[in-house]
Parts: sequence; C-alpha cells; structure tokens
Amino acid sequence: MSVWALEAEGLCYGYGARPVIETLTLRIAAGARHALIGPNGAGKTTLLHLLTGFQRPQAGRLRLLGSDVTDLSPEARVKRGLVRSFQITQIFPNLTPLTSILLALAERDGKSGGWWHPLAGDPARVAEASALLTQVGLASVREIETRRLAYGQQRLLEIALALALKPQVLLLDEPAAGVPREESAALINHLLALPPSVTLLLIDHDMDLVFRFADRISVLVAGAILVEGTPIEIAANADVRRVYLGDGPL
Ligand SMILES: Nc1ncnc2c1ncn2[C@@H]1O[C@H](COP(=O)(O)OP(=O)(O)OP(=O)(O)O)[C@@H](O)[C@H]1O
Ligand SMILES: [Mg+2]
Repeated sequence: MSVWALEAEGLCYGYGARPVIETLTLRIAAGARHALIGPNGAGKTTLLHLLTGFQRPQAGRLRLLGSDVTDLSPEARVKRGLVRSFQITQIFPNLTPLTSILLALAERDGKSGGWWHPLAGDPARVAEASALLTQVGLASVREIETRRLAYGQQRLLEIALALALKPQVLLLDEPAAGVPREESAALINHLLALPPSVTLLLIDHDMDLVFRFADRISVLVAGAILVEGTPIEIAANADVRRVYLGDGPL
C-alpha cells in the first residue's frame, strides 16, 4: 500500500501562454498535516484546482492513495475521498448548521428524494450530523441560523460539510482568512483534532497558524516547490527567508 495520500508529478499549467505551475512535484504522506505556503500569486490556489480536477494539467500525473486520478472529474475524485472545503456559507445563510449538514449527508448518500421528505426523519443521519458538528465544536449552535454565527464558526461549518463527504484527503485554501485570531486558533485546534485517517493539506499566509498546524511544509515560489521540510527546517532555511519572507524572522 502506498504511504502517499497524494502525489503530483511533473504538473504543468498556465493561463494562456503564461506558465503558472512549472513541472511541479509534490507528495503528501498519508496522515500528514501538510502546509503549502508561498507569496501571493505563487500558484497555490491554481495547484489546488489541479489537485481537485477543477482545472486540468497540461502535463504531469496525479495519484490519490496510489491510484492515478489525472483523468477523473472533480466529482469522481470526491467519491474517491479527495475533498476540498468551499466557502459555502453564503449559499445557506438561513439554514441552521444541523439542516445544512443533513442536506449534505442526504446528497452524499444520494437519498435527497425531494424537499418534501423531512430531513430530520432519519435518526442515523441526525446522529451522524450531530457527531460532525461536535467534532468541529458547533454542537451548541447547531439550531442557530448560519448567518448569525461568528465568522470563524461559519468556516468551521464549511469544514464540517467537507467532512460529511468522508474525505481521505482534505484540502483547505486559507480557511482562516478574515477569521479573528481567537477564532482561528480554535479552527486550527479542531483541524488538529481530526483523526489521522484524514490527511490534511492547508494553504495559509498566517505563519503562526501554519507552524502550529503543520508537520510538513512545502514552499511554493513562482510555480515550483522551492523547498520542503519540517517546520524547523523551513524556519531555518535561508532561501525561504530570502525569497519568501523578506529575510525577517519567521
Ligand atoms: N483565472 C485566471 N486567469 C489568468 N491568470 C490567473 C487566473 N487565476 C490566477 N491567475 C494568475 O496565476 C498566478 C497564480 O495565481 P494563484 O491564485 O494560483 O496564486 P496563489 O498562490 O493562490 O496567490 P494568493 O496567495 O494571493 O492566494 C497569479 O499570477 C495570478 O494572477
Ligand atoms: Mg490563493
């Protein structure tokens, strides 16, 4: 069995004639808390689009848990356990977290069956939804409309919705952007509390948060991995300091 949850090999992508990802190779170990950092415009979000299948690489291969998924649609990758968290709270502002998760579970199981079926009618699914909300610390607000939740809680709901899809690999693009510091700490704690059966790849600019989260860090600069290592190695790396962090303290 492969120890790699996700392997990208020789990925190339450009918008028009302009290359953005250049022969990039990245391996994420199963169970890792892996962070991807890099300056604005380095290509982090583009790489995430390539991993999820939202955009197709012009060259290179992608393997998920040892199987080649390069030619699979985004939906087929989700079914195989590659899930990204989307900012969806604007879509369901008037629903409660519980109803939102119940909808996601019904959709996942292909049993939505129409809006007239009571969502809360299936005790097993209500129990699963409750467990997911507890996992991300939202149990006490599960009956409050999402638009009334704190911003950090809304981001946590998005993570719970992604977890409802039973990811083996969960990709998070700046989940704490705009979240107040007290709430972003809670968000990272909930991510760190996820079982190791869920491999995590986090993109973020907040170095405090990244260094608290990651056991492995890759630094993307101008579409290529400049360096990869443990947080200690990355913090001490002269190239990282020079190119990415302007030589200041990490
Ligand atoms: N749809 C697009 N069309 C053309 N160029 C794009 C498009 N999306 C991104 N780019 C360009 O590709 C490069 C990489 O963008 P990308 O969003 O992947 O960077 P990023 O590392 O996620 O940046 P940030 O840290 O600001 O989120 C940038 O120069 C950006 O301007
Ligand atoms: Mg981005």
